[in-house]
Amino acid sequence: MTIDQKKLEGFVHKVLGDVGATGTAGLAVIGDRLGLYKAMAGAGPLSPAELAAKTGTQERCIREWLSAQAAAEYVDYDATTGKFTLSDEHAAVLADESSPASMMGGLLGFTAMIKVQEKLIAAFKKDGKLGWGEHHPDLFEGTRRLFHPGYSANLVDHWIPALDGMRERLQGGAKVADVGCGHGASTIIMAKAFPKSTFVGFDAHPASVEKARELAAEARLNGRVTFEVAHAKNFPGSDFDLIAFFDCLHDMGDPVGAARFARRALKHDGTLMLVEPFAGEKLEDNINAIGRVYYNASTMVCTPCSLSQEVGLGLGAQAGEERLRAVATEAGFTRFRRATETPLNLVLEARP
Ligand SMILES: C[S@@+](CC[C@H](N)C(=O)[O-])C[C@H]1O[C@@H](n2cnc3c(N)ncnc32)[C@H](O)[C@@H]1O
Repeated sequence: MTIDQKKLEGFVHKVLGDVGATGTAGLAVIGDRLGLYKAMAGAGPLSPAELAAKTGTQERCIREWLSAQAAAEYVDYDATTGKFTLSDEHAAVLADESSPASMMGGLLGFTAMIKVQEKLIAAFKKDGKLGWGEHHPDLFEGTRRLFHPGYSANLVDHWIPALDGMRERLQGGAKVADVGCGHGASTIIMAKAFPKSTFVGFDAHPASVEKARELAAEARLNGRVTFEVAHAKNFPGSDFDLIAFFDCLHDMGDPVGAARFARRALKHDGTLMLVEPFAGEKLEDNINAIGRVYYNASTMVCTPCSLSQEVGLGLGAQAGEERLRAVATEAGFTRFRRATETPLNLVLEARP
């Protein structure tokens, strides 16, 4: 065995970065939960004592947290004053939920996945099954907060206009189902934008449906948007103009069955919109930063979730357009195209 010393050192350096990143993710969640980033946003340079006073936290812990944040290059440290600053650019990523650059949901969701590691190890040894509802609740909140900025930036202005004739239909008054809606981020965004249309979100996870109802009430959308606990192959209603699946078809055990059920619930000229994680066709196309994030989530969440349901296809979060086309075709859709895309999502249109 000959060891390439340079290669070895390079890999140690890489893994050291990953060890540090794991800790940074945990500390970022603490910062989020304690309101530390929000207190620093726009506040200029702060000493640990000032941040602790602003947030009602323990100064010594805050000093260490800030030092770790500086070492991670999340905040800037001024050695002459001993103060720490969260720049406006970093605040957009860590402290401003309305910013399209917000990433806090990703950090929250990923630390949540690690919290059920024991269950995952047991599942890997047995049948691979871990249902969505068996995860830590931070995953549900993290998912909403991760996806919401992208939906806000794209759904109404780019994705719906990319679907054939759909914007006009929604403006005129259409009937929409959002299947696997989770906390209903996408349902609420659409309902706000298209006041003449009616929206119903379905999800098999009761706690998520409860939260979606709360968020709709906060947005004063009661009446125009409703949420029901329902499985993707058994939701009530028919004659929908649009049925959407946002980042969830691949989580389902029987995506073909779910798409087939949706086809029957659509009007004859209705549209199925599939928003799925961006992916190339082959593993080698996805060996990059985004593929890494999605394969991680797919291994810990999406694939075990799919395996926990009937059929248990295990499509995975990096299925890619052609596998998704095959799912839609098997479900009886005759037309299928990539309507648009972002660096994080494929937006696919299927018509009966
Ligand atoms: C990754 S989350 C996406 C949630 C939401 N669409 C969003 O974009 O924020 C996947 C969701 O699919 C739901 N789900 C998984 N399998 C389902 C099924 N067979 N029927 C209905 N919902 C399902 C889960 O409960 C979860 O809320």
